[in-house]
Amino acid sequence: MKTLIRNGHIVTAVDSYNADILIDGSTVVLIGKDLEKIAGALDKTINATDKLVIPGGIDPHTHMDLPFGGTSSSDDFETGTRAAAFGGTTTIIDFAVQYHGQSLNQALDVWFAKAEGKAAVDYGFHMIVTDLPDQRLPELKGLIDQGVSSFKLFMAYPGVFLVDHGTIFKAMTSAGESGGLICMHAENGIVIDVLVKRALAEGRTAPKYHALTRPTRAEAEGVHRAIAIAEMANSPVYIVHLSCYDALKEVQAARDLGLPAYAETCPQYLFLDYSYYERDGFEGAKYVMTPPLRDKSNQEQLWNGLRGNDLQVISTDHCPFCFKEQKELGRNDFSKIPNGGPGVEHRMSLIYEGGVVQKRISVNRFVELTSTAAAKIFGLFPRKGTIAVSSDADSVIFRPNRDQTISAQPDHIRVDYSAYEGRKVRGVVDTVLSRGAVIVEDGVFKGKAGDGQFLRRGTV
Ligand code: URP
Ligand code: ZN
Ligand code: ZN
Repeated sequence: MKTLIRNGHIVTAVDSYNADILIDGSTVVLIGKDLEKIAGALDKTINATDKLVIPGGIDPHTHMDLPFGGTSSSDDFETGTRAAAFGGTTTIIDFAVQYHGQSLNQALDVWFAKAEGKAAVDYGFHMIVTDLPDQRLPELKGLIDQGVSSFKLFMAYPGVFLVDHGTIFKAMTSAGESGGLICMHAENGIVIDVLVKRALAEGRTAPKYHALTRPTRAEAEGVHRAIAIAEMANSPVYIVHLSCYDALKEVQAARDLGLPAYAETCPQYLFLDYSYYERDGFEGAKYVMTPPLRDKSNQEQLWNGLRGNDLQVISTDHCPFCFKEQKELGRNDFSKIPNGGPGVEHRMSLIYEGGVVQKRISVNRFVELTSTAAAKIFGLFPRKGTIAVSSDADSVIFRPNRDQTISAQPDHIRVDYSAYEGRKVRGVVDTVLSRGAVIVEDGVFKGKAGDGQFLRRGTV
């Protein structure tokens, strides 16, 4: 299959220029002017005049089919990756979970089975580690050798995911020695647990107490501790879903010292805020996620962090639960509301609007934050994350001047509400190619469940 993308405005993290892209099979084989003259017989030509051609988005933080909070996230690998494709994301890195008593490979096999035959875009895995006695430490290197080169550890959710400091230190040391990366859910989960129990004992059960029992200091303290332990372990650390200025200042301070501390934020922390929890009735439950939405004043600080590279990546932490029957599990107790929200479909357009249209970041930085940086940090570059000869032909043809309004009833994700309902954004995904194959065109899904491949990632 030979495809020519004609006359688009190619944008990578470093360049912006008009050119054609010739794709043969799954990779880009030539970039230049007037390639039609030398391309030979073509199977397909896509006219990208007046449109941007950007690398397929990489969302390095999703939870498809995750058992959590007494239920499971409502998107599986089929519906979630199809929604990702519609939104211009052609690679996800999802989180496999090791439960107590399981080996890391047993856990990985469960997630391979969840994705196999279902994923419509390429996918990798991080491994959530919950049980790491010393004899299991070599398994970290075993996973890195299989292309699962990053691990998530939790400082929150005692009794479920939380691991102690010794485990964190040992995991960081072992992973760091083998070129792996620890991703940290950084919060003081022990203090939060006390605050939650106190609130419930005082009859404070509404969704807003989820936020009020998880103060920004609890996140900042966790970030500080995670970075300090990483420094002692001589390893890099990647802070996931950073939500607030207090926590950002900790990352900034570490990076100013030259420490290899990385962090991502997510659209929900850039566009939504604490006031959503004050909505009538049980509506606030739709926004119960961890960390919680913060006071609006944090948003501009996060954009500053993105502009100044103290935050390197924008992921979604896509972990949707339906309002009916799932979020409702916590109608009388906010601590029983499953934590998480939808996001995988609208990340690219939201960030284009909030970043480029609102003149906070350049279009190159938009590409870097939504694709290139994740590819580099998580061992996928240059196969993914750029448009270059011999890279995978994961390309998004993007209309920078077209508007859309995000609907209340999501078209593609399997959830009964949209967190961004009614929001107008400029910047619309037009056509999406995954490894050379058109998977979205004219608003129609042309891909296939099962066409997504597992990505063996390299080391950091
Ligand atoms: O609320 C969230 N973030 N749910 C997903 C699990 C996690 O901590 O990332
Ligand atoms: Zn987390
Ligand atoms: Zn998450």
